[in-house]
Amino acid sequence: MTEPLVYVERDRLRTLMKDKLVKAGLPEEQADKTADLLIFADERGIHSHGAVRMQYYSERVAKGGYNLNPDLKFEQTGPATGIYHGDNASGHYVSYEATKKAIELAKTSGIGVVGVKEIGHSGAIGYYARQAALEGMVSLTVCQSDPMVVPFGGSEPYFGTNPIAFGAPRKDDEPIIFDMATTVQAWGKILDARSKHQSIPDTWAVDENGAPTTDPFKVNALLPVAGPKGYGLMMMVDILAGSLLGLPFGKHVTSMYKDLTEYRRLGQFQVVINPEYFGGKEQFLENISQMVEELHANPPAEGFDKVYYPGEIQNDVMKQYQESGIPVTKDIFDYLESDKIY
Ligand code: NAI
Repeated sequence: MTEPLVYVERDRLRTLMKDKLVKAGLPEEQADKTADLLIFADERGIHSHGAVRMQYYSERVAKGGYNLNPDLKFEQTGPATGIYHGDNASGHYVSYEATKKAIELAKTSGIGVVGVKEIGHSGAIGYYARQAALEGMVSLTVCQSDPMVVPFGGSEPYFGTNPIAFGAPRKDDEPIIFDMATTVQAWGKILDARSKHQSIPDTWAVDENGAPTTDPFKVNALLPVAGPKGYGLMMMVDILAGSLLGLPFGKHVTSMYKDLTEYRRLGQFQVVINPEYFGGKEQFLENISQMVEELHANPPAEGFDKVYYPGEIQNDVMKQYQESGIPVTKDIFDYLESDKIY
């Protein structure tokens, strides 16, 4: 059975999400930025990281799984480096603030590298890539997520879906945003399939016996993308965003769903690069324009309509949703409109 969809105008959906978070107890400024991250995902068709997570976030806020009175601190540790202490506030809000710091460092030093420590879930991390790109910066963002992926050749979950986002600005246009989980699919896609009561391909995940499953409700662990290569990438992410910052790593990272009263203590790692300090900004933007033009001119293979740059499909979806409204399942919409927190 597929849940019926409701099409909601962007700003209305954003307001519904923000208001719910405030009602759950999240401070206004944090709720506003968190809603911004959630709408960023939903309006680009990344529904795994939008409204589908609202009930979870609200419950966690209400149960004390976020620090609602955090002591946020930026500690500069070198000419171009720093640590942003998140004190277990909303990961969306803290990561946005930390990216601002990395951009400031890159403006004055050519590069800004900021470790973001002790945060809640930070959502669709392409947001931070876009944030840096809108300031003319190239960036790399990686973050930890809870252990739910079998290592290549293993049978028990060890790493998270540890995503990688890369962003590059474009001249007068939406930036390039390459933003991927290091698993075949993000956990949110399993949640999305659950909410829509749809089956999943047998290449995404395994059940509790380590066997491939098509039932999203039977998923026990996810599979790394491209076997040992995805496994290596998720390890790289965990070393940068976890071990390097002195945070819990691998299977010691807290679980998203197990105990909603505890702080997550997650890490994120933010690298922002100023093209002015390398080949120069103008030349860089020209090169990117040429690259995108050449990719668009590449003849599509059979079964494809065109060659897209990373993030382009999401930009096209955004234009469609401006006409149609953003699709949300009716049960999520009803929840958002209700007085219920969880
Ligand atoms: P995806 O598989 O839908 O897309 C990955 C990338 O490939 C995107 O940049 C997309 O633009 C690009 N792409 C897709 N089809 C394309 C095509 N035909 N041509 C050119 N480029 C194409 O993304 P995935 O892996 O499902 O991740 C979804 C979201 O989940 C991301 O926003 C990620 O940040 C988020 N995530 C967040 C986590 C967290 O703990 N904060 C954990 C895991 C994922």
